Amino acid sequence: MAPAQNVVVLAMLLAVVFTSLNASPTEDDFLHCQRTVKRWATSSLETKVKEDKHKLQDLLFFLHIPRTGGRTYFHCFLRRLYYSSLECPRSYDKLRFDPSKPNCRLMVTHDDYSVVSKLPRGSTSVVTILRNPLDRVFSTYEFSVEVAARFLVHPNLTSATQMTGRIRPKNKGVSTLDIWPWKYLVPWIREDLFTRVCFLW
Ligand SMILES: *[C@@H]1O[C@H](CO)[C@@H](O)[C@H](O)[C@H]1NC(C)=O
Repeated sequence: MAPAQNVVVLAMLLAVVFTSLNASPTEDDFLHCQRTVKRWATSSLETKVKEDKHKLQDLLFFLHIPRTGGRTYFHCFLRRLYYSSLECPRSYDKLRFDPSKPNCRLMVTHDDYSVVSKLPRGSTSVVTILRNPLDRVFSTYEFSVEVAARFLVHPNLTSATQMTGRIRPKNKGVSTLDIWPWKYLVPWIREDLFTRVCFLW
């Protein structure tokens, strides 16, 4: 990391429970956020914060590593700080994202740290969340099975695969299946699930 570039990396360790990537906002989500924020606020009161030399720059880049609680962090915290209009266009969509929009203040993607090279030096803060790698592996496996199992409403794998191309969430246009590692893991596990189902029948 290069402090010379004034890129501040705040690595946060959060242990939060969260729901699926593309769930729509519901009352459950609100209550979940409420609990999460209260828990954070309470624990912050107890923690003595040392003097913090990090300064929040004009642009905040949130590097969302899958299965680290990023969705909760985004919806319960960042969303309350940055209105949608402040979000850079095509956040969460690397191939088309456009960091040149003037005045956008929040960039959120599932990419890697290399994205930083495209962001304005000296005026970008970077935040990411780290989690115990083993927990991430288990969580990744569980989430892949969960997403793959949604396809079991289809009578067979052919029908399930054909549907995939047509699924697009209404709001942002980024499907779980476009995102690494789900892009690779979900089809793989889905195929395995259908093999087992056919075998049972
Ligand atoms: C899969 O399901 C579809 C929809 O019910 C059906 O039209 C198709 O014949 C099935 N394909 C196979 C290989 O069983």
